[in-house]
Amino acid sequence: MILPLRIALSKGRILDDTLPLFAKIGIAPTEEDQRSRKLILNTNREDVQFIIIRATDVPTYVEYGAADMGVVGKDVLVEYGGSSFYEPLDLQIAKCRMMVAALKGEQPQTSVRPRVATKYVNITHDYFARLGIQAEVVKLYGSMELAPLVGLADYIVDLVETGNTLKANGLEATDLVMEVSSRLIVNKASMKMRHQQVTELLSKLRGVVGEE
Ligand code: ATP
Ligand code: PRP
Repeated sequence: MILPLRIALSKGRILDDTLPLFAKIGIAPTEEDQRSRKLILNTNREDVQFIIIRATDVPTYVEYGAADMGVVGKDVLVEYGGSSFYEPLDLQIAKCRMMVAALKGEQPQTSVRPRVATKYVNITHDYFARLGIQAEVVKLYGSMELAPLVGLADYIVDLVETGNTLKANGLEATDLVMEVSSRLIVNKASMKMRHQQVTELLSKLRGVVGEE
C-alpha cells in the first residue's frame, strides 16, 4: 500500500472553512475519527490523511516533510518567512486584513519610538522599518486589543474581519498591513515525488475555490 498523502490543517477557525472545501472534492474525515480527539484523521480516501495542528505549526510540518501539504493563513506564512515550500493556491477562505490600530481619536506620536504589541513580530518590525519608524515591538500571544487600553502599547498589529473587536474596545484601524486569506502550501520534495497525487488534489481544489 502506498503511504497516504498527509495534509496539515490549522485547527480552529480555518478548519471550519477548510473541511467544507475538501468535502466538495469528495474528501472527508471518517465519522469516528472526526468525533474523536485524534490528531491524525483518516479520511474516506485511503490515500489521504489529515493532521490537525496549531496554525503556527503548519509551515514547520510542511517544510520538514512531516506533512506533504498544508492549509494556513497568509499571516502565518509571512511571519514564518523564507521560501521553503510552494504556495500554489489561494483558497480564499478565512479572509481578513492585518491592520495597525490605536485608541480611537488618539493618534500616538510617531516621532518618538512607538511601542507596538503584536503576535506578528517580524511582520511588524518590517512594516514600521519600511516607513522609516523604529518601533519597539512587544510580543503577545493573544487579545492584542487590550494592550493600548492598559498602557502596554501605543499601537497593535492584529487581524480585523468585521471590526467588532476593535470597536468593542474603543480602538480604530489606522493602516492596512496586508490582506489575509488561507493558502495551500506543498512540501518541495512531495511536489516532485508525489506529483500525480498532489496535482490531482490541487486541480480539484482549484475547481471549487471561490464557489459559495
Ligand atoms: P494559535 O492556535 O496559533 O493560537 P489562533 O488562536 O490565532 O492560533 P485562530 O484565531 O483560529 O488561531 O486563527 C487562525 C488563522 O485564522 C489566522 O492565522 C488567520 O489566517 C485566520 N483568522 C484569524 N482571525 C480571523 C478573523 N477574525 N477572520 C478571518 N480569519 C481569521
Ligand atoms: C481574531 C483577531 C481579532 C478578531 C478580529 O481573534 O485576533 O481579535 O479575530 O475579528 P473581528 O474584526 O471580526 O472582530 P480570534 O477571534 O481568533 O481570537 P484570538 O484572540 O484567540 O486570536
